[in-house]
Amino acid sequence: MLRKVTATRYVTPLKEGGSLPAIVEADDLGMYVAKFRGAGQGRKALIAEIVAGELGRALELPVPELVTVQLDEAIGKGEPDPEIQELLLKSVGMNLGMDYLPGALNFDPLAFEVDAGFAGRVAWFDTLIGNVDRSWRNPNLMRWHGKPYLIDHGASLIFQHSWPQDAAALERSARRPARVELADHALARFEPDLKAADDALAPLVTPDVVAAATALVPDEWLADEPGFDSPDDVRKAFADWFAFRLRAPRSEWLPELGG
Ligand SMILES: Nc1ncnc2c1ncn2[C@@H]1O[C@H](COP(=O)(O)OP(=O)(O)O)[C@@H](O)[C@H]1O
Ligand SMILES: [Mg+2]
Repeated sequence: MLRKVTATRYVTPLKEGGSLPAIVEADDLGMYVAKFRGAGQGRKALIAEIVAGELGRALELPVPELVTVQLDEAIGKGEPDPEIQELLLKSVGMNLGMDYLPGALNFDPLAFEVDAGFAGRVAWFDTLIGNVDRSWRNPNLMRWHGKPYLIDHGASLIFQHSWPQDAAALERSARRPARVELADHALARFEPDLKAADDALAPLVTPDVVAAATALVPDEWLADEPGFDSPDDVRKAFADWFAFRLRAPRSEWLPELGG
């Protein structure tokens, strides 16, 4: 399970995204960027944040801590802005939080440098999970205390929005090239070393590592998924998808690897 906190105050909306994420204060005195279940893409985006974010962490990519944020009705009732109030009241219960990095800057690829190895690992990871949301226009990278951090994986793993109905369809989905345009990637100008990333990271994406990431998704977000009998069945489908995707030749979905 992810660590659990309870929101004590809605601090401010983060205007950039369409999903109305916000900074909230919690009962552990921490501040979190909350993503709400009642927002546009709903719980599927929150599931993607956890599966992709925790997988990234297992690959030693820098992802701020993820927690679940309990939201009580009182916080919504006390909110004066009607649009935010509606979102909060629709999201009473469990939501997702990411440790808020105070004073972090949006990463500017023209102002900060990373090495080709790191750029390669991030670009490889984004292609693995089909993350189209890390372009130079919209980097979803923060710079904090001189180091880059990966945020916002809600748009990745889109296959779970409409689960393939059998093993053959799941395999086809996993073998398909990602829609990620590597030329537009936030770190493209650092000449990502994809071959080194593939050599280093592919062996780490084992069924156990995928299972550890999906185990952190709350059962209630995986229950009632059409075509599945239980939350663990959905977790198993994620594991199968990644097993299909990791199989060689990975140039099927990452042509830059060659061969
Ligand atoms: N952990 C964090 N610490 C500090 N700022 C953050 C953090 N997460 C997000 N932000 C800020 O909030 C903005 C929106 O968050 P993001 O996760 O990208 O949501 P969206 O899905 O709306 O794009 C980011 O562009 C960034 O400026
Ligand atoms: Mg974003």
